[in-house]
Amino acid sequence: MLRETLQGFDRVRALRWEDGALRLLDQRALPQQTLWLAMNTSAEVARAIQALIVRGAPAIGIAAAYGLVLAARECAALPAGQQASAFVAAAEALRAARPTAVNLMWAVDRMRARLADQPDAERALIEARAIEAEDLAANYAMAALGAALIEPGSGVITHCNTGSLATAGLGTALGVIRAGFASRRVARVFAGETRPWLQGARLTAWELLEDGIPAQLIADGAGAYVMSLGLAQWVIVGADRICANGDTANKIGTLSLACAARQFGVRVMVVAPTTTLDFATADGGAIHVEERDARELTDYAGQRVAAPGVVGFNPVFDVTPARLIDAIVTERGVVLAPDADKLRAAFFDQYN
Ligand code: MRU
Repeated sequence: MLRETLQGFDRVRALRWEDGALRLLDQRALPQQTLWLAMNTSAEVARAIQALIVRGAPAIGIAAAYGLVLAARECAALPAGQQASAFVAAAEALRAARPTAVNLMWAVDRMRARLADQPDAERALIEARAIEAEDLAANYAMAALGAALIEPGSGVITHCNTGSLATAGLGTALGVIRAGFASRRVARVFAGETRPWLQGARLTAWELLEDGIPAQLIADGAGAYVMSLGLAQWVIVGADRICANGDTANKIGTLSLACAARQFGVRVMVVAPTTTLDFATADGGAIHVEERDARELTDYAGQRVAAPGVVGFNPVFDVTPARLIDAIVTERGVVLAPDADKLRAAFFDQYN
């Protein structure tokens, strides 16, 4: 029953493989325009990931996997002796397209391992489709597990976009919110606008509107005040990388919400598939936080807003320490008050 209800909420797709090309829904243009762009080479996919045409940790991993299908096809046209090295170069370029979301590195590494660096486009397509299907299944599993933690009638704050647009479908944090709404646990949603790129205002608010889920857009700085009014019982967010000790990188502004949540007795739930777990990184201090062009801050829609000469600092993620997180929800289970020992015990096989 819940699955059928959730499928009703899961209508948008960020990408699709069609007629031998990867098609990406241009997230720079949403919600004003629905533009599908065809990617015919792996280099085009790498550029699209860098430019946020496709974004969200799981979605960029899936896009990179399909990018390697294109790379395999391109490499097959080269002399035999150059094929493997050209494939590895394409994989490295995709892997480096963005630095923080570990799903990107995970997907590229999995594709390389399964193909043993042999550019076989047919096998690559089977693997890319498997990665996409597994992500979708993980989201449905997490939606049920996360929603079960929420008391009926709760208000929630979410940040950035973690919905169908950021994943293979349904979403991570937004999947939990959808399941929570369907089971009457979530009564009210506040979506932070997510400056500077406005993933919340442009993407999350739109997904929720399409679903008919009662949601209100708030300024990023309004989160603490909403909590102080008693309007939210949970902050529910996704993740770009969860370290071995539970420290979590997510969209800039997540850390502020987590600090405020602790102040006001609001709980914090991080929802992410196990492909976001990075046991090779001990703690958040070692995460490479992406810094993007300061014009994302000083300009709006191509127009300068700040005075000429104003200098920006634009880290687009922050790191929330594990001690501020009440629950990490993955498709393989929930870890409450996460720390290194609990995460190791819950996901032990990932160490081997
Ligand atoms: O810069 P973005 O839009 O790719 O950042 C996305 C986020 O921070 C999401 O919260 C995270 O990737 C999880 S998406 C399910």
